Amino acid sequence: MRLQRALRRELLRTCLRSPTSAFRNFSTSGRRCEELIKPFYVTTPIYYVNAAPHIGHLYSSVIADIVARWSRLSNPDVPVIFATGTDEFGMKVQQAASAEGKEPQEFCDDVSQKFRDLATIANISCTRFIRTTEQVHQDAVQHVWRELVKRGHIYKGMHSGWYCVADECFYTEPQVEKTVDGVMVRHVSKESGRPVEWAEEENYMFRLCAFQQPLLDWLESNPQAIMPHKRYKEVVKTLEDVASIRDISVSRPKSRLQWGVPVPDDPDHTVYVWLDALINYLTVVGYPWRGEAPTGWAEGWPADVQVVGKDIVKFHAIYWPAFLMALGLEPPKQILAHAHWTKDNRKMSKSTGNVADPNEAMSKFGADAVRMYLCAVGGNLAEDADWSDERLRAFYVGSLRHNLGNLLPRIMSQSIMGRVRKCPFIYTEDAPVHEDDKSLHDTLQRIAAIVQEHVQKREFGHTVHAILYALTEANGYFTKLQPWRTTEPVEVCARGQFYAFETLRIAGILLQPFMPSKATQLLDILKVERRGLEAAKVGAEGEGAHLRVANLEILFPDLNPKPASGATEYPRKKQPSTKTSNPRTTSGAAPYKKRTTSPPNFKPSTSKWTPSDKDPGS
Ligand code: MSP
Repeated sequence: MRLQRALRRELLRTCLRSPTSAFRNFSTSGRRCEELIKPFYVTTPIYYVNAAPHIGHLYSSVIADIVARWSRLSNPDVPVIFATGTDEFGMKVQQAASAEGKEPQEFCDDVSQKFRDLATIANISCTRFIRTTEQVHQDAVQHVWRELVKRGHIYKGMHSGWYCVADECFYTEPQVEKTVDGVMVRHVSKESGRPVEWAEEENYMFRLCAFQQPLLDWLESNPQAIMPHKRYKEVVKTLEDVASIRDISVSRPKSRLQWGVPVPDDPDHTVYVWLDALINYLTVVGYPWRGEAPTGWAEGWPADVQVVGKDIVKFHAIYWPAFLMALGLEPPKQILAHAHWTKDNRKMSKSTGNVADPNEAMSKFGADAVRMYLCAVGGNLAEDADWSDERLRAFYVGSLRHNLGNLLPRIMSQSIMGRVRKCPFIYTEDAPVHEDDKSLHDTLQRIAAIVQEHVQKREFGHTVHAILYALTEANGYFTKLQPWRTTEPVEVCARGQFYAFETLRIAGILLQPFMPSKATQLLDILKVERRGLEAAKVGAEGEGAHLRVANLEILFPDLNPKPASGATEYPRKKQPSTKTSNPRTTSGAAPYKKRTTSPPNFKPSTSKWTPSDKDPGS
């Protein structure tokens, strides 16, 4: 049974390398094709390449990465397709390239690479990085266009309105207001506050009005189709307002916009950038699929979770499902819309210079700490959060370094391990739990279910806080028990070490989607073998697991290390001689086993630690 599962998983993985054809072969082989699992499909928005990435872009990617990684953790048999990428066509990019005196393609190559690098540094586990300038995507866009024309959803007409290059969309008269800046009178969008310009042109139009009721019906029968609920209600309200839904322009005259996908069979027009961009989600899963009325199910369609920012909900929750319905395809299962990060409580904007740089933050604090902070503070997706380096620093020191990081040396001291190994605590499920351990034991038995529920409700802040709370509880428990004191009975020491170990092990498992490198490092130090969700309960790693910890490594180094004074940051187990084999201590580099990003500037001391009767982590 296990072998069969592994075989199937491997087969699916191979299939995913070339989605359509491999899946097709597989689906013709008799009964087994019915067992084929639909891949879990997660997407981020594709990022405009008009400027370098900022923290808001990283946030969209981290949320999607958590969803993807959580799916792998909780449903290991289901393959995950996780797409991100760059949105490279349109007026905005055309103008940005020309402002730098570059050819658009060269300009896109440079900036797209920055987004790709950001994804690598932040450990975003995407399986596909798509660029809209890829030929395969342009072919998909033209296919969609022809299909929409064939089905009667596109017509040609005169169109006038206020075009906003920054938002890449038309606004109607009531959606625009006049602002006076000194002597300058400008028109701006009420929605985004960005400048608009009047345009009157012959365009192709999409019959959006025809989908007003189908969209409402879809939302009525899928209350989780847009999350959080606040955004769902906003979209329903917009759709219920008959006047706010109009047919939309889906092309621009070539004379204005050259940088885009040409409208098939009409060289004077270019496909509207939002139609082009949204189709990336289909390109990734191999659209157009062959066969009669294909649904794309085996390839991963419909998308399970599409992460977007609140500013682009209209495009994803109204236009996108309408385009899909027009193509005869299912709308996504969930549009997950997050709010924004502000800086100094103002909208982040390059022009005002108040933009948080994700690379700078990650090089100071490490990618995992930044990911955790984004969740802990920005984890309530319905509300904006304010970015602050100072608060990130405090979170790093308090929640990560002291709460999580410090529990590790507390349980691994030589004095504790020496005593525990001589007289270990053996946990059995049916034995009564000691009064001292009850509260922590209960927390640990419930934590996986609590976390699972928060993830399903897309409450990522609550998720992270629930795990951090369990660690706080374990630290308090440990302090109360004082198992490091040799005057305490060895039985107390053994129980204390066991429960603190179990807390770290279970937290490590649950934190994998949130801080993948640090969680892996923690589980490696603890020598944990079973890392799936089912192992996140007391005793699940098996008897004696808590006795085989590896060498201590510092998870979250001091951000301001004092000049080497002879005292170690943490008490350490005996290391091999520095002369022979430990380049980390001889070179003075940070004591990381696997490093994905530049760690904070930590310098370990080389002096020895001697066992004592003190709390080793305090
Ligand atoms: N290219 C379009 C998306 C097309 S998807 C088919 C786009 N790109 S963007 O680069 O402007 O924005 C990408 C994502 O970054 C959006 O989800 C947006 O909400 C998010 N963020 C941009 N600024 C943000 C903050 N200040 N805070 C959080 N996220 C924000 O829109």
